[in-house]
Amino acid sequence: MKRSKRFEKLEKMPINQDGFAYEWEEAGLVAMDSPYDPLPGVKVENGVIVEMDGIRREDFDSLDRYIADYGIDAAAAEASMAIDSLEIAKMLVDINVPREEIVRICCGCTPAKLVEIVRHLNVVEIMMAQMKMRTRKTPANQAHATNLDDNPVLIAADAAEEAARGFAELETTCALARYAPFNAMALMIGAQAGRAGVLNQCSMEEATELALGMRGFTSYAETLSVYGTETVLIDGGDTAYSKAFLASAYASRGIKIRYTSGTGSEVLMGNAERKSMLYLEARCLLLTRACGVQGVQNGSINAIPLVAAVPDGFRAIAAENLMASMLNIEVASGNDTAFTHSDFRRGAKLMMQFMPGTDYVTSGYGGIPNFDNVFAGSNQDCDDYDDWYTLQRDMRVDGGIHPITEEEALAVRSRAAKAMQAVFSGLGLPEISDEEVEAAAYAYSYKDMPARNKAKDMKAAENMMERGITAIDIIKILFESGFEDIAENVMNLLKQRVTGDYLHTASFLDENFKVHSAVNDRNDYMGPGTGYRLSGERWEKLKEKTNALRPQDI
Ligand code: 5AD
Ligand code: CA
Repeated sequence: MKRSKRFEKLEKMPINQDGFAYEWEEAGLVAMDSPYDPLPGVKVENGVIVEMDGIRREDFDSLDRYIADYGIDAAAAEASMAIDSLEIAKMLVDINVPREEIVRICCGCTPAKLVEIVRHLNVVEIMMAQMKMRTRKTPANQAHATNLDDNPVLIAADAAEEAARGFAELETTCALARYAPFNAMALMIGAQAGRAGVLNQCSMEEATELALGMRGFTSYAETLSVYGTETVLIDGGDTAYSKAFLASAYASRGIKIRYTSGTGSEVLMGNAERKSMLYLEARCLLLTRACGVQGVQNGSINAIPLVAAVPDGFRAIAAENLMASMLNIEVASGNDTAFTHSDFRRGAKLMMQFMPGTDYVTSGYGGIPNFDNVFAGSNQDCDDYDDWYTLQRDMRVDGGIHPITEEEALAVRSRAAKAMQAVFSGLGLPEISDEEVEAAAYAYSYKDMPARNKAKDMKAAENMMERGITAIDIIKILFESGFEDIAENVMNLLKQRVTGDYLHTASFLDENFKVHSAVNDRNDYMGPGTGYRLSGERWEKLKEKTNALRPQDI
């Protein structure tokens, strides 16, 4: 066939390098509406749910049982389920219905009911509902700091810059697992060098991650994965009970947690039990509530290439973020995984959470170049900062971060690297040279760093754990080597664990270690003139643009 030059060109566009698929309901490869999804229903006897979504209690699997007994408000269930789903959908976008009333209704809903409600909404309605239903009034944001070499000096410098840019939470992970103690410590020191009060986590295999938290090297944990079918949960070595136990272990040490779930993970792991992705996510969210966990990182997360491949994918992802908010759960709304070759498409995906605002607009902005991102590459990375800032400015939307100058970035990066040098020396760890400190301040990526002796580093990291080093040892060294402010910030993070206020839903700490959460910063959106409005000093800050002309320049 003689080819159209236009069609030939179109075929080569970035969008056509993405993978796409039609629905395949039998495999569970369907976003939010499968003919095999159960119909909503509930029966309550003597305060106990005896039937849920067409399954009788004696036929419940362990996940059904856990959700029915602990996730759903049995006292509200019959009344909630009696309200027509279309009516609840209308309440979600009705500015005259307060979010508290909707939360009360939704906490009595079964998984199938929650899905039936959001199926009535188009994407603009989902965004309107998200603006009203997110738990905290002020939006915030989270960033990734990792690098391919697990270079701890670079992690500290990157964390410092991210903290200075306004991210309220930072997370890292490792290319090589044995580096975990160094990465966690570097992220903590860097974060506190950049901006007092920034929370930090290190995503690892569960026992390691908990141990790091108990040593005081991390202040929150997020990648406690849950799945929407019993078979997949068990495949991951878990049950609802084991997850609840793990959550309690963190809470008992005053460490903030949220679960991770998200559409597409069950079909990816090969056992969706013929259900739609969104129905299974509704089960994850009720499981999160059931475990007493205050937050979730959802929005497909690592499964997004799969969800974005099927029709209705973005809509399902926006709907799952909304469902978390409907259940009064803090939502860190994804946009943390690269899934498309198209800049047009990745920007459009982000807008569905960026414009309405969520508790954490991304659950991982790549503050490093994507090739250094050991998670999987984020939807946006350090090359996109000026795009992000400009969109905040264009739309008068607060995406949780603010512009900084090059001088500010260099200053905090350098200070973080120097603090790491002092701590490594004080702990008797392999030396951090002046050359490394200098390189970390100015670096773009791991390629700009002098190579470290990895074998020596990993051995030293292991040995540091064996010696029983905790955050208290780090505080002492920081204090004695001229970093009193960073020492005090780390100390203040530890104190938070005793008061426990930051375990409240959707918490973040400001630079005075004051907790902002859904309790004292409640989202009170009730239409125009209410809720979060970008104004005053904050708006002046977000307007800043070094290459924008002033009247005197024209
Ligand atoms: N469901 C559950 N857990 C997920 N993770 C990522 N995506 C999902 C999902 N859709 C978790 C995994 C991964 C970490 C980064 O987050 O545990 O290792
Ligand atoms: Ca994250």
